[in-house]
Amino acid sequence: MTTRHGINWDKAQALQVAERNAFIGRMPRSRELSSQAAGHLLFGVPLHWMNDWSTPFSLYVAAAQGARFTDADGHDYVDFCLGDTGAMFGHSPRPVADAIARQAQRGYTAMLPSEDGVWVAQELARRFGLPYWQFALSASDANRFAIRWARAITHRSQVLIFNGCYHGTVDDVFVDLVDGQPQTRDSLLGQVYDITQHTRSVEFNDLTALEAALQDGKVACLLAEPAMTNIGMVLPQPGFWQAAQELCKRYGTLLLIDETHTISSGPGGYTRAHGLQPDLLVVGKPVAGGVPCAVYGFSAETARRAEEAKRNAPPGHSGI
Ligand SMILES: Cc1ncc(COP(=O)(O)O)c(C=O)c1O
Repeated sequence: MTTRHGINWDKAQALQVAERNAFIGRMPRSRELSSQAAGHLLFGVPLHWMNDWSTPFSLYVAAAQGARFTDADGHDYVDFCLGDTGAMFGHSPRPVADAIARQAQRGYTAMLPSEDGVWVAQELARRFGLPYWQFALSASDANRFAIRWARAITHRSQVLIFNGCYHGTVDDVFVDLVDGQPQTRDSLLGQVYDITQHTRSVEFNDLTALEAALQDGKVACLLAEPAMTNIGMVLPQPGFWQAAQELCKRYGTLLLIDETHTISSGPGGYTRAHGLQPDLLVVGKPVAGGVPCAVYGFSAETARRAEEAKRNAPPGHSGI
């Protein structure tokens, strides 16, 4: 018998083969769709990482509602993934589905505002406590834009993150601490710039390292989830955020809180539930009930500085 990490390895492998075979036997329609997809979809899936899951081929979804979905072979599942929180409040919530159907009859892309945006911004201000808002299509975009504003406002280039973070496809923050040194994340494809030139990383909950990273006054913003949710769940130690916010203020660094996952803490996110006072705040994924959309908010002072930065910039594309 071979043992690995205290596990009977032969038995584990036999179980894996049995599970794979059972999956293949139960999913003839998903299997057929997978083989058709292989003809025209790179890696046989619409987004290449959908191929990372451990099943022999992709499971195809037929329909999803609330906390359940049905696959193409008619099996019913309780969905603990919920679109990695895009569907945190259930698949196809009735009010969202109705609103989409209504709006689909009235046009949906005009390069001009409509009345709904006014109400939504008022509601975001009421819930999150930040008075000014902008919209984006994904949390990745919102984080990218918020970083851009922070750099424009502060005239500083550095971004600070916590080791092990994930904030979407924001190249700037694909940096890991390896033996205490920032290093571009190995898995990042096709990026040729030296990201570590403008990104610093420290361990979460390490106030000494945080202060050391901030004290030269070169960091535009600290981008952070209030509790880290992408390396398992790492909660802040008592008093951590109080002290971290004071450090940011002391060294003139803007605090950019990414509530994309931690919105699950309550209607105003972790920020509201724990009385944080960020300068910028991002919410993506579930904020539009699963429709691709994100929002980011500004404190009054940050909004004033952002407007000033834009007014002082030459006209033309802002990159935001
Ligand atoms: C904390 C956090 N922020 C941002 C994102 C990016 O979201 P999106 O892929 O919708 O841009 C993710 C994605 O998982 C995330 O976990």
